[in-house]
Amino acid sequence: MIELLNIVFRMIHVVAAIMWIGNSLLFTWFEINLLKEDDEEDSLGAMNMLHGGGTFFLQKRIINPEEIPQRLHIFKWQSYTTWISGFILLISLFYTRGGTLLLDPSKSDLPAYMGAVISLGSIIGGWLFYDLLWRSPLKNHGIIGLLICFATLIGYGAWLDTLFNGRAVYLQMGAMLGTMMSANVLFHIMTNQAKMMAALLEGKPHDLNLGKQAKIRSNHNHYITFPVIFLMLSAHFPSTYGSAHNIAIAAVVIVALVIIKHMMNCYHTVRRWKEFIALAFLAATAAISFLINSADDSSPAASAGREVFTTMGCSACHLPQPGTIAPSLHGLIGKEREFADGTNLIADVSYIRESIQNSTAKVVKGYAPAMPPYANVLTDEQLDLLVAYIQSLTR
Ligand code: HEC
Repeated sequence: MIELLNIVFRMIHVVAAIMWIGNSLLFTWFEINLLKEDDEEDSLGAMNMLHGGGTFFLQKRIINPEEIPQRLHIFKWQSYTTWISGFILLISLFYTRGGTLLLDPSKSDLPAYMGAVISLGSIIGGWLFYDLLWRSPLKNHGIIGLLICFATLIGYGAWLDTLFNGRAVYLQMGAMLGTMMSANVLFHIMTNQAKMMAALLEGKPHDLNLGKQAKIRSNHNHYITFPVIFLMLSAHFPSTYGSAHNIAIAAVVIVALVIIKHMMNCYHTVRRWKEFIALAFLAATAAISFLINSADDSSPAASAGREVFTTMGCSACHLPQPGTIAPSLHGLIGKEREFADGTNLIADVSYIRESIQNSTAKVVKGYAPAMPPYANVLTDEQLDLLVAYIQSLTR
């Protein structure tokens, strides 16, 4: 049942997010490409687009209070649906099970429910911090405001990394940014639109200022989209969130994605925009691979073993976080193992060898006997390297 809900809400979440972000990208593209070459007084620019066998004519206009269009489309439910479904997923996947998927027991001994408390508290606190900052006079100093927000986010991530497992840290940062985006739509973009429409209905002239204020939030949303996509998908990128330098990696990714998005928006004004994108991409890739590799201080045998671990497909099942189909192998040596048949032992090297060669001989309690036997697949050398690697996973 939980599994079914998970599938349904994840689908809703992803589809709504695609629709929302698609809108955000398309409307920004409209703004960039509107040409102010028509002489109509009320026009802010227009363009023609070829699609579906016809041309779409798009014009941005100042609204005349006498002629408010009858059918005016507004865009908000994509955003709200994304947030609501995301929040349901957060609760059903991470706040249930006693919060065990958030806190990392090797880092903190807080009771599990504190994971959910910290997560929820930071989602609300993060929004309040961001919102108050951009209501303060700092809003007139955009760059300083952005730097403060970025530094705070990274500082927060570093703090959270002392409590949460790496995967949950990235997810939590994504959930906080996503909440800010949706709250921007609810509390600023929609509110200012409603004020503008109310004034128009009273017959007052179109006040472009209200739109401009909302535009700051809308611009934030626009630039946050790429980083949020990365953070939300990061469960698939264990080499990033699992690295000892995971927060530095997140910082590099966020900066690079914002630069890339900005250059995509500047393609009219910056002649070498493509080169800048390539440069940002290459520099970020180099920085990230340096960060990933420099975090690796294990012995040569363990590093070689990690290679075998990936190439032999072990990492498909054995992820570092709990809740996956196979037990995490971190800190296995010396741990007490309980088996499905009721026996138990303390894991040592010979147990690890046996588990790899013929795992179903002793099936760990709580897991299906799903691991294939590797006795005839691995060479002795590969087996030794794997054991060295698993021994090196001390935390
Ligand atoms: C198809 C999924 C899958 C793959 C691939 C897989 N495993 Fe496993 N592994 C499991 C499951 C499920 C268990 C727990 C049940 C059991 O003990 O058989 C397990 C258990 C283990 C254990 C004992 C863990 C413990 O907590 O006591 C070790 C060690 C291990 N695997 C190592 C490996 C290595 C090394 C590889 C790659 C050569 C590998 N596994 C590939 C699913 C997998």
